Amino acid sequence: MTLALTDPPRHKQLRNIVAQWFTAPAVRSLDRDMHNAVRNTLMKVAELGECDFLHDVSGRLSMYVIGYMMGIPEQDHEAIFRWTNEAFEAHVSLAQHPELMTYFIDLMDQRIAEPADDLVSALVGGTIDDEPLTEEEVLLNCENLVGATENGRLSIAGGMQAFLEYPDQWQRLQEDPGLLSGAIEEILRWTSSAAHSMRSVTTPHVMHGQQLEAGDWVAVWIPSANRDESVFHEPDRFDIGRTPNRHLALGNGEHVCLGSALARSQMRILFSELLARYHIEPNGPARKVRSIAVRGPEALPIRISPR
Ligand code: HEM
Repeated sequence: MTLALTDPPRHKQLRNIVAQWFTAPAVRSLDRDMHNAVRNTLMKVAELGECDFLHDVSGRLSMYVIGYMMGIPEQDHEAIFRWTNEAFEAHVSLAQHPELMTYFIDLMDQRIAEPADDLVSALVGGTIDDEPLTEEEVLLNCENLVGATENGRLSIAGGMQAFLEYPDQWQRLQEDPGLLSGAIEEILRWTSSAAHSMRSVTTPHVMHGQQLEAGDWVAVWIPSANRDESVFHEPDRFDIGRTPNRHLALGNGEHVCLGSALARSQMRILFSELLARYHIEPNGPARKVRSIAVRGPEALPIRISPR
């Protein structure tokens, strides 16, 4: 029932219900709020002098942004942040977190009674072939949208980790902030936080000499594709000036990441602020997420101080 797991032609119709929230202009309209959220978050952690970058910076920011888009009142962000963290850390689907799902049911009921200008209301008011979505579909797509942000937090933190491991690239970016857009693409390639994408074959096809039959399942292992030595020069080098950089970190085709513009924009705002105002260094070993679905640091301890 979720966008990510729906086939065409229904997929496009479902995607159209929420797509306008994720276009480049829609994401640009969030710039000011994202800037404020980034500044506040960084000021708080810099006062403490140290933090877990994954939990306290990238996780909080990703949650704040999707919470804002979904119309979750700010006083509830902390609880949503805690519940999503609990589910992510236990590697279970958000749908298995009872408090989170109860919260979404209440939110959905409120928006049915009184629609507002947010993503939950868009789902509640959305129709496909003149039929409204069922409550279950609304609920599962809320869960899908919040769950998808795990990639955002992992790739942002993975990017920070890459800069800590390759400080020459951080310094290069500091000296030439014009490299930031390219650096974001390299972070996406390098971190490849979505580990795989799966499709079922619809017609018989031969690929690299391998016969595929209708109904076969094919998995694209994105981190492997993004280190393909026949495509990328020195793929195991983190190079913010890499060009061309035709990575597949955000998928491709019908299901290409709906949150692409949002993910890039969050990185642009956060890394600009960090580069301009803060000094960062590692504060202990990072821990990796153990999962076949996502990749990145589960914990990234850093020391942070104003420059
Ligand atoms: C850098 C961070 C991100 C990465 C690496 C990433 C990666 C991906 C990938 C690889 C897919 C395609 C899956 C497939 O082909 O089966 C995808 C789909 C999707 N992403 Fe992202 N994503 C990121 C951030 C986000 C964010 C912030 C959101 C916001 C809610 C989001 C929402 C979605 C949704 C809803 C889909 C399903 C689209 C569809 O099936 O039509 N993603 N993402």
